[in-house]
Amino acid sequence: MTTSPYRAAYELSLSDPDAFWGEAARAIDWLTPPLRVLDDDRPPFYRWFTGGTLNTCFNALDRHVEAGLGERAALHYVSPVTGTQRTISYGELLDEVARFAGVLDSLGVGRGDRVVIYMPMVPEAVVAMLACARIGAVHSVVFGGFAPSELAVRIEHARPVVVVSASCGIEPARVVEYKPLLDAALDRSSHKPESVIVLQREQARAAVGERDTDWEEMEWAELMGDAEPAACVEVAATDPLYILYTSGTTGRPKGVVRDNGGHAVALRWSMENVYGIRAGDTWFTASDVGWVVGHSYIVYAPLLTGATSVLYEGKPVGTPDAGAFWKVIEDYGVKSMFTAPTAYRAIKREDPAGELMRRHDLSSLETVFLAGERLDPDTYAWATDRLRVPVVDNWWQTETGWPIAANLRGLEPMPIKPGSPTVPVPGYDVKVLADDGSVLEPGQEGAICLRLPMPPGTLPTLWEDDERYVAGYLSAFEGYYLTGDGGLVDEDGYLYVMGRTDDVLNVAGHRLSTGSIEAALAGHAAVAECAVIGVADELKGQVPRGLVVLKAGVDAAEDSERIRAELVERVRAEVGPVASLRRVDIVPALPKTRSGKILRKTMREIADGANRRCPAPSRMPQSSRR
Ligand code: COA
Ligand code: AMP
Repeated sequence: MTTSPYRAAYELSLSDPDAFWGEAARAIDWLTPPLRVLDDDRPPFYRWFTGGTLNTCFNALDRHVEAGLGERAALHYVSPVTGTQRTISYGELLDEVARFAGVLDSLGVGRGDRVVIYMPMVPEAVVAMLACARIGAVHSVVFGGFAPSELAVRIEHARPVVVVSASCGIEPARVVEYKPLLDAALDRSSHKPESVIVLQREQARAAVGERDTDWEEMEWAELMGDAEPAACVEVAATDPLYILYTSGTTGRPKGVVRDNGGHAVALRWSMENVYGIRAGDTWFTASDVGWVVGHSYIVYAPLLTGATSVLYEGKPVGTPDAGAFWKVIEDYGVKSMFTAPTAYRAIKREDPAGELMRRHDLSSLETVFLAGERLDPDTYAWATDRLRVPVVDNWWQTETGWPIAANLRGLEPMPIKPGSPTVPVPGYDVKVLADDGSVLEPGQEGAICLRLPMPPGTLPTLWEDDERYVAGYLSAFEGYYLTGDGGLVDEDGYLYVMGRTDDVLNVAGHRLSTGSIEAALAGHAAVAECAVIGVADELKGQVPRGLVVLKAGVDAAEDSERIRAELVERVRAEVGPVASLRRVDIVPALPKTRSGKILRKTMREIADGANRRCPAPSRMPQSSRR
């Protein structure tokens, strides 16, 4: 009997991780080869490739140029919101990155220093990320849809030497001026950077250097004008490459740390084995560099692979229409695309029959990958029927940085079962656990956990907070990482992810914390107490709903309209428009335990109804072979 390539790889990855990841590490150029593959000297803090040194930017750019591929397109910047299209070759990108690395260097940014990047989807955001990697600095990109207070919390925690931003981002209906948001964040933060660099965009120029500040404000173009290119700095495989803050259940975001060595190896491996993308292929991820999908699959994985990545500044609909993705695929001969299911739901709503799709030549498209939230079977069926290519769900999270479960299109394509992201990816020992920590049988639902050690590329810890890492992820079940998602495995080993078991929200593929929305509501003078729960939404998958109890003496009948509007506005201003809170209900009381704890879980279950929004595998449609 022959073992399938997937089975063989999966079993080897768990039985002999040194052999498996040692082999994968050969695809990366090391300055010093690692002394060890898996370093398990200090559990539960596992490290990968200790003793090895490398530079991630070198692996993403220089080595392709040195191999004579400088003319190859690294990025196609496609911006329907500004009417711009620009192709940047590997050689050109290297030149810009090296010069911007020189700028950072001249501003005193060194190895291990942090740089916060608060930018829209422009090539300069990618340049800033790679420039940090080049000089061993640690970037922390903050999504543009967050409000000043969220940005301030991240600046305060990361303590950057430099903040890089732009004058504005462009949303379909409005130009969002970033500089005033950044100024407000810096005013709130007790940590002040030494310098702020602003990329001026013509849609709204910013006042730079006109305020009296403790930090120096400078313009991107001026700094780049006389920048000296900087060389790659040698870093340890275990040195941090970036911090990406993600939402937990409290209002305090968690600083997920990514290392250099494990990240490069895992992403390079995933691009080929999970996504089937090789050097020279064109790949289009429609997300944002502020999210983990953007970090991994707009920037690092395609460039580490020598592929061409589309950087898309626009929306799936409204920029200008629901045919925008299809136009990109046709114009650039995209082989595979990746986005969140919500983007396809938006397209489906505008163009249910797929008429705009038919106006484009999509013959280059081989696969569509969807992740970031649950792929509902309706959206799966709609996309599969119209595009006539495999539509592949994959499940992962900011903490892991790359897929935990997927249909590995490069390694061994498997039959698709709608509602399931297919099987655990090599390196991930996925187990569904009962409350008492026992491993559940197929078909039984429980907490999805990953047996330690997790593979390379996953978080080694939280930024400067080992304790929170252990308390938040490793203490529920001894020897396991708690994903926060519930689900089950079926008889064929297919995983079904039912949704979060905690108070983390997923709104249009964006991960948000109920805690930070509650903090914004609680700050209103009329609010005595409040709770935020996620409720099902046809387009965004989930949206937050606020429930507030007013303080004694506030006239609910008279003031409710005004208070509700103010609360919606508060959340927009404090958390950001991306929270998408539209509805707040004023209620007489919140359900509580005897000890006074608000029963959020019960409210969530009531709001969700008996409908778990994910059919059990026994009721699953037959798997479709492709
Ligand atoms: N900067 C400033 N504001 C932003 C922003 C940014 N980078 N991104 C979003 N916003 C604003 C939007 O303009 C919107 O503001 P509004 O309330 O004034 O209209 C608000 O935040 C909510 O944004 P969003 O959730 O994106 O809703 P939308 O209605 O604008 O678009 C979709 C809905 C489905 C089209 C959109 O969410 C989408 O394309 N999602 C793709 C999924 C994705 O990228 N997921 C990331 C992880 S893979
Ligand atoms: P983020 O960290 O922003 O990537 O969000 C991670 C969370 O999104 C996961 O814990 C899941 O709850 C959800 N998620 C991501 N991908 C999927 C998927 N393919 N199916 C179901 N849920 C998903």
